[in-house]
Parts: sequence; structure tokens; C-alpha cells
Amino acid sequence: MPLVTLSQVLQPALRDGYAVAGLVCLGWEDMCAYTAAAEAEGLPVILQAGPGCREHTPLPVLAAMFRTLAESAEVPVVAHLDHGYTMEECVQAIDCGFTSVMFDGSRKPLQQNIDETAAIVQAAHRAGVSCEGEIGFVGYAQGESSAGTEPNEAQRFASETGVDAMAISVGNVHLQQSESSGLDINRINAIEAVSEVPLVIHGGSGVPAAQRAELARTTNICKYNVGTELRMAFGEALRTAVGTDADRFDRNAILKDTIEPVTKAARQVLRSMR
Ligand code: 13P
Repeated sequence: MPLVTLSQVLQPALRDGYAVAGLVCLGWEDMCAYTAAAEAEGLPVILQAGPGCREHTPLPVLAAMFRTLAESAEVPVVAHLDHGYTMEECVQAIDCGFTSVMFDGSRKPLQQNIDETAAIVQAAHRAGVSCEGEIGFVGYAQGESSAGTEPNEAQRFASETGVDAMAISVGNVHLQQSESSGLDINRINAIEAVSEVPLVIHGGSGVPAAQRAELARTTNICKYNVGTELRMAFGEALRTAVGTDADRFDRNAILKDTIEPVTKAARQVLRSMR
């Protein structure tokens, strides 16, 4: 199955009422687990390289890892840059072979966010790559607080930038370690009333599993980003792997034991969006 763009997986999701998982990758083991999970479920997957991942591993290496997995996968795989903060970073990702970039201008004033996102959309589209933008601000648990997306700003943002997917702030928060009380359906409805762009929910870990599928079916939400939930599964698997045999010191032997439990957790996440 080919490496595909974000639009190639989100447009069918929009049409048929489901969402695709954007899974936060930190290393080879979790990328392998996520791809194996997608194959086991027969579903597409978006492999995401966010700021934490890029701090650890250079972008060209990540692009090669994603592309290698995608090329032998039996399901569509998107190689996605998550939270790119500059034009340079997004262009580097495009040049390295990512098929989708997210430009996050959500901390900037509205007009600047629109102008910079529009320029990156143009650069991405020239290269046959998709672009996701963010309007409103999705905050962080125990960190910056959110600013809810205003529907009139979302309408302007979508039409003036030409983004392929729009991340919105509707009660979602990054880094939640347990389920929240859920998303603001009235705000989602008000946003989709003024724009047909596929909607993205960051901070998917905090969205109750039952609400993920329900909203994917009934609204324009087509992508949930999930990181924390799977990093917790990895952490637990790693502690077990390390504790299993005190004499074991080979890094690869220890890390290999994380793949199966993380695959299991990722399969659950993938299923929760249908
Ligand atoms: P969580 O880690 O809260 O699931 O959020 C992931 C995310 O939104 C990455 O962009």
C-alpha cells in the first residue's frame, strides 16, 4: 500500500463518517507497533513526528523510518510532521519526504496565523503534500490554558489558508492521563456550519473513547491525535520488560518486548474512532 497524503485518508473519512488516528511516535518500536496495529485492524494510520520526537531524532531519519514502514505496509500510511512551528521546519519536512505537515501558528495573532499558514499550504501543495493548520489554541494539562475556537475565525482561517485539515479547540487539552468530561458539541456544530474542512482534535487521549466514534460519525471530525495514552502503555510495557530479567542488558532485546503490548493498545485506539 502506498505512502499517502493526509487528504487521501481524511476525505474518505469525512464522506463515510469515521476518523483516522494520528499517533504520536517517539521511536522505532512504537512506529512499528502502530503500523502493525493498523495492519491488524485493516485501517489507515497517520504516523506523527512531533517536537519531542524531533528533539531526539533528526527529521531526515524520521522521514526515512516512516517511509520504510509505509512502503511495506498493507494499509495506507501518512508520514506527518506534527506541530511544525516555522516555515523552515515544514519545508525541511516536505523536502525529506513527509506527505503531510502541520503548521502550528495558534499562538500567533489571527492575521499572522492565517498569512503564515497560507504560505505553508502553498509550499506543501506545490510538492503534492497536505497541510493541517490550527485555529484557537489547544492547551496543555498543568500548562498553558486553551482558547476555544471562534466559529467566525475558523471560517476565515479555512477559506483564506486553503488548509486540508483544521485543528480546533473545543474542550480538548493535550497530555491528559485520564478521560475528560468530553468535547463541546455545540462549538463543533457551530464550526462545521461555516466550513467543510475536515476537523482535527489534538489531545485525543482525554476524549472519552465512546465520544470519539460518536463524533466521528455525526460531525466533521476526521482525525484524533493520540499520544499520552500510548506513551503510558509504552512506559508500562518497558517497566515490565526491564523487570522481567535482571540479567538482561541488551537494549534491543528489552525494547522488543514493548512492541506487542503497544500494538494491543494502539489497536484499541484505532478501533475507538469507528
Ligand atoms: P495527547 O498526548 O494528549 O493524546 O495529544 C496528542 C496530540 O495532540 C499531538 O499533537
